[in-house]
Amino acid sequence: MIKKFRLGNPFNTEAVVSEIKLSGLKSFPLTLSEGEKTVIKFSLDNDDMIFGLGETVRGINKRGWIYESWCSDETNHTEDKRSLYGAHNFIVVNGGEKFGLFVDFPSKIEWDLGYRNPDEAVIEIYGKDADIYYISGESEIDIVKQFRKIIGKSYIPPLWAFGYQQSCWGYAKQEDFVNVRENHKKNNLPLDCIYMDIDYMERFKDFTVNKELFPDFKAFVDEMKENNIHLIPIIDAGVKKEKGYFVYEEGHEKGYFCTDKDGNEFECGVWPGIVGLPDFLNKDARRWFGSKYKALTDMGIDGFWNDMNEPAIFYSVNGLEKAFKKLDEIKSKEVDIWGFFESKNAVLGVQNSMEDYSSFYHNADGKKICHKDVHNIYGAFMTKAAGEYFEEEFGKEQKLIFSRASYIGAHRTSGIWFGDNFSWWEHILLNLKMLPSVNMCGFLYCGADLGGFNNHATRDLLLRWLALGVFTPLMRNHRALGTRAQEAYQFGDCKDFADVLAVRYRLIPYIYSTFRRCSENGDMMFKPLAFEYPEDKVAREVEDQLMLGEECMIAPVYEQNKSGRNVYLPEDMTFVKLSGENVTKKEMKKGLHYVEISLNEVPLFIKNGKNIKLSKPALNTAKLDTENLENLL
Ligand code: NOJ
Repeated sequence: MIKKFRLGNPFNTEAVVSEIKLSGLKSFPLTLSEGEKTVIKFSLDNDDMIFGLGETVRGINKRGWIYESWCSDETNHTEDKRSLYGAHNFIVVNGGEKFGLFVDFPSKIEWDLGYRNPDEAVIEIYGKDADIYYISGESEIDIVKQFRKIIGKSYIPPLWAFGYQQSCWGYAKQEDFVNVRENHKKNNLPLDCIYMDIDYMERFKDFTVNKELFPDFKAFVDEMKENNIHLIPIIDAGVKKEKGYFVYEEGHEKGYFCTDKDGNEFECGVWPGIVGLPDFLNKDARRWFGSKYKALTDMGIDGFWNDMNEPAIFYSVNGLEKAFKKLDEIKSKEVDIWGFFESKNAVLGVQNSMEDYSSFYHNADGKKICHKDVHNIYGAFMTKAAGEYFEEEFGKEQKLIFSRASYIGAHRTSGIWFGDNFSWWEHILLNLKMLPSVNMCGFLYCGADLGGFNNHATRDLLLRWLALGVFTPLMRNHRALGTRAQEAYQFGDCKDFADVLAVRYRLIPYIYSTFRRCSENGDMMFKPLAFEYPEDKVAREVEDQLMLGEECMIAPVYEQNKSGRNVYLPEDMTFVKLSGENVTKKEMKKGLHYVEISLNEVPLFIKNGKNIKLSKPALNTAKLDTENLENLL
């Protein structure tokens, strides 16, 4: 049962699509106090667990840490962090009483889930206007399904978006893309998409293509398509402020950019230099920006990724001036060690500063709103602009679109990726842990940068990471400029990579049909074991295995120099190792086991009495036979 409580006059975030009758605040089942901030409290028993919050660091069970809903351009996903790129304000508490809580509020929320006081959860909403949903149900998944029902069905991309995808910040010229394609082909490595990062644009200007690098872009896109490769360009939130640049001029003329308190366009620096931030909270501006994608869809492009839309602000013109002033002040005195730290902080504080987020405004359909009060829906509304345009113009399931920043609601029109992780073993595990949490919030089309974005990947790390990636709907290898090349053909003999990637294509029919079913009925593709085996004390605490669909369990290897791993079977299962076309099977009893897994193998566990269907491997989804499937067991 869902109860909706309204405080003040909330901004319509468009997260919830169902009409739900309001309940009086007096019947709110948890402690709630109103003031400058709204505070919700509930006590925690020893065994209580808390799930949810989508894209965050740390465990599947969120208890014991403090999180902040504040979409952040955070490139260092370490345990000390409280926020990443998304604001996913939904939790499920599994205790004496099971309940779900969704706080529909577009600005900052602090979730102290037993951090200051281990026996208490304290949720501080930084404002007085919010809709709060309290959901009671029989089980965690029942609560999730009720929630998913009111937020609407999850986005479904085209089938080819389930193929393997290669990306790199640094592919610039046509030749780079052709090389990636040909090297995959030559080495028997499947591939469906190649990503275009900011390098393809003309001086980082959205919806432009560098003519020197791509003299005939449309012909190039067509040629790639003839080879069954989709090119997926990036679009950034900031629009370069430049005379004569059509996107800027149109937006400027129509007043579609965010403004400062005096009504002048707010100016900040991102990749292109000084940019204007499109006012995605203004319906007309949103439609206008959405329609700009046409410049590229007209060239045959059918997929995009939206970036820097928290929005990331390297500096604002005002912020930079202030920092320089501060440095001058410090310089004019004798600089001691404290002066040094003051200078350092003055410079570092320029990026993504709260002062900047508090100093620009939206025109939300006639209402002037300070950005900081709606910060968490900015990126979601940018991606919705694109998603809505695609659905209107081309119909559902025709275009691939996913975003870095997100808020619940955007799951109906797009997917997300998990941003700038590192080529660290621990980030394989973090990738796994995020999957059920974002699924709970409706985001099904998702995945991490396989191989790691920052830092340098190794052969074994990439193989192990891909063996998890074969199960994630978005299976993309991506890395940062200046890091070690990590395409599957960069590590000598490609056979092991070909074996692992072949498994992905064998699994596509299963992954795709599971995905569709989960979108349709509000289910999660990936569940914590605790959701399916709530009475099993060991299963409840497992943080490195997940249930997949209704049939399977996954347990990838995520540590270096390991030829296998310990795994807990919450019931009797068949242990399967998939590698190329090979399948080895072994029946196993409920309990703890050690299983050996080679670098070219993908481990999978099938529940007793269940089975899944596999296709033959293919080098591309266009060549995948999705009709003639064979039973795995
Ligand atoms: C930040 C994104 O998270 C990353 O994936 C991308 O490569 C860089 N921006 C450059 O566009």
